[in-house]
Amino acid sequence: MPLVTPELAAAEGRSRHGDTLARRTARALRSLVASAARDTAAVTEAARAIQQPVTTGRQIAVTSIRGGSGKSTVAALLGLTYAHYRPDPVLAVEADPALGTLPRRLGATEVRWSVPDLARIVDPSMRITDLTGYLLPFEGGGWLLPGSQGSVGAQIDVGTYRTVMAAVRRYFGTTVVDCESLPAEVARTALVTGQARVLTTPATVEGVAATRTVLDWLGKVHRSMLPTTVVALVRTSPDAALDQARAVAQLETGGAAVTVLPYDRHLAAGGAVRTELLGRATREAAALLAAAVMDRAVSRERAPAGQAPAGQAPAGQAPAGQARAGQAPAGRAPGGPTQPFAGERAR
Ligand SMILES: Nc1ncnc2c1ncn2[C@@H]1O[C@H](COP(=O)(O)OP(=O)(O)OP(=O)(O)O)[C@@H](O)[C@H]1O
Ligand SMILES: [Mg+2]
Repeated sequence: MPLVTPELAAAEGRSRHGDTLARRTARALRSLVASAARDTAAVTEAARAIQQPVTTGRQIAVTSIRGGSGKSTVAALLGLTYAHYRPDPVLAVEADPALGTLPRRLGATEVRWSVPDLARIVDPSMRITDLTGYLLPFEGGGWLLPGSQGSVGAQIDVGTYRTVMAAVRRYFGTTVVDCESLPAEVARTALVTGQARVLTTPATVEGVAATRTVLDWLGKVHRSMLPTTVVALVRTSPDAALDQARAVAQLETGGAAVTVLPYDRHLAAGGAVRTELLGRATREAAALLAAAVMDRAVSRERAPAGQAPAGQAPAGQAPAGQARAGQAPAGRAPGGPTQPFAGERAR
């Protein structure tokens, strides 16, 4: 069924670049005279972190304590970044049945199969080609599983969520989950069972204070939780007056990493995220965020023997049906592109 009727789709405004023309022109001129060596080193390092191989599928939950704080946008940016950089299969799951926006953000125009539908039919004998028949492709080679068919009243319960996540873990090296806002039960389950988690936070004092409360709770769930958490401070308004340095210091306490996603006109307009229209700062922030998250998602594998592995789910909350090592697609990262989304192609 179509996500948006043709009449409504026609109401969508012109797609604009995230940076103004003046800004892009100034940059083009500057790049003629200035050395970009420092920028390139940071971007190369981010690409290395994003492309790290994994032995079992990594599952990354994106949630928040506030609605409208950028969860779906951040989940879409992470999915697009991983699909672009990583050689192993990438899946974006919408675990928000409330008419979420992830399918639109990833360019889907219709939905056929959703999380509850897949939960009813998955079985261990399925091959990845059987599974992808129920998924929608998105830019960069990623796959999308929507949360609902676009009708009010659909539900995803914890059992459904666990069934689907256990099934897909064998096939997808990286899975990004767009959750409902906390304290919804599925969001809490996703938060503590994944290998890394992202909390989106509006760039307001109230938003930061609320996220701090969630971090304090998360730190008590298990000591591995905060070191595998990344806070995305999202500037959804161009006029945010937040003191960024103080906000970051507040949020970092206890071990979480913090990445700031700048205000971007293209993201503010809604609709499909077209990576070539993202502002340069947005593209770099998305790459840094994806790198920070992947670093944390694989930190368990890197932990020296005898040391408490970070990213381990608390006892009793481990995801059901965890894949055995070697069963999941082991992502061998060949040298991939070193620019976020391969630069500003097709503009
Ligand atoms: N970096 C950004 N710059 C400008 N606008 C943004 C940015 N990130 C998100 N937005 C806008 O903020 C709004 C909320 O974003 P989004 O839908 O991603 O949040 P959400 O947390 O998924 O919301 P919900 O709780 O409804 O699921 C959207 O209108 C989106 O276009
Ligand atoms: Mg959303």
